[in-house]
Amino acid sequence: MTEPLVLGIETSCDETGIGIVRGTHLLANEVASSMDEHVRYGGVIPEIAARAHLEAFTPTLRRALETADVELEEVDAIAVTAGPGLAGALMVGLSAAKGLALAAGKPLYGVNHLVAHVAVALADQHGNSSPLPENTAALLVSGGHTEILRVGSLADDVELIGSTIDDAAGEAYDKTARLLGLGYPGGPAIDAAARTGDPQAFRFPRGLTMPKFEGTAQNPGKHRHNWSFSGLKTAVARAAEQFTSQGFAVPTADLAASFQEAVVDVLTAKAVRACQEQGLTSMLLGGGVAANSRLRELLAQRCGAAGIQLTVPPVRLCTDNGAMVAALGAHLVSAGAPPSSLDIPADSSLPV
Ligand code: KG4
Ligand code: ZN
Repeated sequence: MTEPLVLGIETSCDETGIGIVRGTHLLANEVASSMDEHVRYGGVIPEIAARAHLEAFTPTLRRALETADVELEEVDAIAVTAGPGLAGALMVGLSAAKGLALAAGKPLYGVNHLVAHVAVALADQHGNSSPLPENTAALLVSGGHTEILRVGSLADDVELIGSTIDDAAGEAYDKTARLLGLGYPGGPAIDAAARTGDPQAFRFPRGLTMPKFEGTAQNPGKHRHNWSFSGLKTAVARAAEQFTSQGFAVPTADLAASFQEAVVDVLTAKAVRACQEQGLTSMLLGGGVAANSRLRELLAQRCGAAGIQLTVPPVRLCTDNGAMVAALGAHLVSAGAPPSSLDIPADSSLPV
């Protein structure tokens, strides 16, 4: 089979995503979000997310099939996020996928959400085939994860090189936006506020960059390829307090820009160095924070300077969606990977 037609289902958090791909060609990507219902709580409420998936699933599936002009009977396989994510939310998508696979007699692929974020960088809306380059790393930056990976094969060879030891990058954006009164979700809000701010106004800490943590290339320290973002939000909070305690207006745009510069600087510096030290010459970017304008800009600059070939998904495919799940599913079908059993469980803490 050359160009498998695959339906992808994503329900790990607040987005109900249904995507359809033919090989690497994206035919449909319909997303319904319950974010509006979570905003007032300042975070995703699992029970609300699961109920919203149940309501949105069928209309979103119908829209995707219509957009792609495909009948369910025509698809070659059904791919669904099996984890990580919110257990109840995952179960809605998995149960629906199992029902569809059983009724239509199609193979089911339960896939890893994190690997799907990476796979979508290779999916091309124009139908050009993008095979996985040799010696590839992936920088995965989302609301729950921040990891640098070596990717030998999307099917069965993904190895963790480094990760955050506390908050994920997206979590740091969300928490910092909340303390600056910029609302939820924080990533897009800080990205926008930072545009009018000075990124050099404050020098915020770059976590785990001291020699005692990093060591040297020859004698690496325990945290050479790891990040820490929890101290950063505390530093932003302290800086903001200094202004309020003296009766001055908080310079929100400067704080947002300086915070963002600290996150993006340490993310890109460590990711590029990890590639250089591990002999990796290509990098894929993925996850919700991959939508960030400054991250895209600085990573492109630093990869360019280091001779690393960078592949970045379009902004709309960075946050959670069904196309990324379908893209990974198509990759698995093409690679001849065995389908999942129909009793595959949801695994809320599935590692890469
Ligand atoms: O991958 P994703 O949609 O969901 C998870 O799997 O976690 O990522 C969501 C995260 C949130 O923390 C959100 O604030 C962040 O991605 N995000 C951004 C931007 N857009 C979304 N962070 C920085 N800049 C953005 N433009
Ligand atoms: Zn995600």
